[in-house]
Amino acid sequence: MANATRSSALPPLDECQREAVTSPPGPLLVVAGAGSGKTRVLTERAAWLCEQDLVGAEAVLVITFTNRAAAELRRRLGALVGHGRARQMTVGTIHAACHGMVRRHARRAGRTPRFSIYDPSEARRLVTQALSDEGVSDRREAKALALQIGKAKARLVGPEAYAALLSTERTQRFARAFVRYERYLAASDALDLDDLVVRAVALLSEPDLLDGYQDRFRAVLVDEFQDVNRAQYEWIRRLAAGHRNLTATGDDDQAIYRFRSADVRNLLDFERDFPDARVVALERNYRSSGRIVRCAAQLAEHNERRRRKRMWTPAPDGVPIAVVTAPDERSEARATAAWCRERLGQGVAAQAIAVLFRTRAQGTALEDALLEAAVPYRLVGSRGLWETAAVRDLIAHLTLLVNPRDRLALARALPLRKGVGAKAVERVIVHGSERNGDLVEACARAHTIVGLRGRQADAVHEFGRNVRTLAEQL
Ligand SMILES: Nc1ncnc2c1ncn2[C@@H]1O[C@H](COP(=O)(O)OP(=O)(O)O)[C@@H](O)[C@H]1O
Ligand SMILES: [Mg+2]
Repeated sequence: MANATRSSALPPLDECQREAVTSPPGPLLVVAGAGSGKTRVLTERAAWLCEQDLVGAEAVLVITFTNRAAAELRRRLGALVGHGRARQMTVGTIHAACHGMVRRHARRAGRTPRFSIYDPSEARRLVTQALSDEGVSDRREAKALALQIGKAKARLVGPEAYAALLSTERTQRFARAFVRYERYLAASDALDLDDLVVRAVALLSEPDLLDGYQDRFRAVLVDEFQDVNRAQYEWIRRLAAGHRNLTATGDDDQAIYRFRSADVRNLLDFERDFPDARVVALERNYRSSGRIVRCAAQLAEHNERRRRKRMWTPAPDGVPIAVVTAPDERSEARATAAWCRERLGQGVAAQAIAVLFRTRAQGTALEDALLEAAVPYRLVGSRGLWETAAVRDLIAHLTLLVNPRDRLALARALPLRKGVGAKAVERVIVHGSERNGDLVEACARAHTIVGLRGRQADAVHEFGRNVRTLAEQL
């Protein structure tokens, strides 16, 4: 077994894991619970395929969902096959992989190679604008529409198909705003995050690109497959449709991205699309104590539409699980902080304690309580610095250097000049879009823009000239 040639200090694979890792190239679905070694199997399989000379490292594509998970995959692969070889593999999030494709073939995807990517908060701003153009200025409606657009794109449904779904007044208005939203994105030479997948799927419907990518990636491995939405699944399916060398690992009891259109059906339907798929179940948990595994298995029994699998572990029971009910989030947070404080007092290291919460908003009460109880903590997953106004301002300026058509970037950067407001931004955008859409150029011509005068025109002009000068130096 290839394991023997490695210096890796990992314990040996169990029998089911080995079966998955060493099954011949072809469709393979690994269904398993948390802590059963799914990610380990995925990385070991990528390594095994290379070691057996079944595919070259440069032809391996390993996909997961978060940047954090991708970094972990890279780390584990590096330890398995060596960092040089691991670097030859393509390892990343599904969005990063789709982004790579769309950036490379930007013109065919309907953008220039310098297109901007709008994060959900930027997308929301455009949605709000689009809806207000339809006569609705209501934050809740804008939020609802943003959600609908996200869901539509996750199902590869465009504005026309969306309009055809339902003919209530509200959905028709939404459909019109959806069209406007798409136009705004195009005018700014921008895509939202869902578009990266939608456009990548479209690129894979072009025969030459499909051939090229199917040839380029001869092994496709997807971790956390239960969190894949329809569009993402379609992208994966097309990529793997030729050689069919697709490994997916997932847990139908763990689909946590339902709210953003992840579809557990993908996992359950894998065998429909790949009827000859080998299915391996991993049922032994290596991560948790006996009580935790039993409790989780019992809870999972209540899930609908799940595969039969029963997690177990030979690990000792461990400390009992305590359930604490609190009247509100403040007291819940205080109880949590007190619990942590107590452990710290007993000599438990702060790094050994994790506090999980479901949504970002719940973090505030917790942070307050932890601060008050003087519990040292680190908030994981917070984008912190990137979301501060100063950094966003800076990024808006840098964006204009590469994409002078980005309206949101202009709307953020330009009003930072003294005496320049939203009205002036609008005038620049109108002026720019009547020409080639280059807003930096439009700023530089500020003195010819109707409605801009005096110091305001000077400020806009200077802004345009400075950005242009810097852009020329790139
Ligand atoms: N065969 C094994 N023997 C001992 N430990 C294992 C084995 N397989 C996996 N583990 C360990 O169990 C933990 C969970 O593995 P991981 O691959 O992250 O599981 P999953 O992705 O299913 O949650 C890791 O610490 C891993 O090293
Ligand atoms: Mg995992």
